[in-house]
Amino acid sequence: MLSAQNVHKSFGEGAILSGVSLEVRKGELISIIGPSGCGKSTFLRCMNFLEIPDRGTITAMGVTIDRQGGPWRRADEHMAHKLRTHVGMVFQSFNLFPHLSVLDNVLLGPRVVKGEHSQTERDEAMALLEKVGLGRVAQRYPVSLSGGQQQRAAIARALAMRPEIMLYDEPTSALDPIVAEEVLNVMRTLDDEGMTQIVVTHDMRFAQVASDHIVYMDGGHVIEAGPPETLCVNPVDDRTRRFLRTVL
Ligand SMILES: Nc1ncnc2c1ncn2[C@@H]1O[C@H](COP(=O)(O)OP(=O)(O)OP(=O)(O)O)[C@@H](O)[C@H]1O
Ligand SMILES: [Mg+2]
Repeated sequence: MLSAQNVHKSFGEGAILSGVSLEVRKGELISIIGPSGCGKSTFLRCMNFLEIPDRGTITAMGVTIDRQGGPWRRADEHMAHKLRTHVGMVFQSFNLFPHLSVLDNVLLGPRVVKGEHSQTERDEAMALLEKVGLGRVAQRYPVSLSGGQQQRAAIARALAMRPEIMLYDEPTSALDPIVAEEVLNVMRTLDDEGMTQIVVTHDMRFAQVASDHIVYMDGGHVIEAGPPETLCVNPVDDRTRRFLRTVL
């Protein structure tokens, strides 16, 4: 479904990602964990070219972009656009448009891509909002919703583009545990339906319970990866062990 090979990224002098690779199969839920500043968000953003890797190869749904340090060209941007149509993204801070109702936030993507929106698209948007438990607040503005509701609206908005892969950057970090659970439940439902999901998270409980694989990053590298029952119980590397001791 998605493959990242040997991704390198620097900002100025500092190398942030030093050859990070990841393979994700259809329907998997992958959690990326690691200390603050280790490059998790940068790596996630590289996967859909919100951040342009200096080097490395990303393939998603058969679209491949191979970077070998050259300039970013119009043709690359065209390919990145194509790749992004398969990859939805959800951010810690929701990023809903405040001047649009929840329903219009969800309709915005399809409208931009296809021009007008038909009744069918409205029906589909409403179905998505029902699915994330927001059918009753579709006409309200984001400011009047709880953080958990806003994040679920952001997920519905990403799903409206019919992505095959969803990326989340700390989707619940801004939420208290109760409303965070509502968001995590939506992700679990998507997992049950076979969605492919990659989640950067500090929520170790969710990572342990819900992930097929956990990827531990440190200092711009993947240190180790494996199913939770292996990685959390028998980590191989000292850095993983130390990190897990702190967070578990
Ligand atoms: N646009 C940027 N320009 C310069 N430096 C950046 C930029 N984005 C990230 N960095 C730096 O890259 C490093 C890795 O950042 P990143 O956000 O990927 O870490 P992270 O693992 O997601 O951390 P956290 O858990 O705190 O979110 C940090 O030192 C950060 O300051
Ligand atoms: Mg981050």
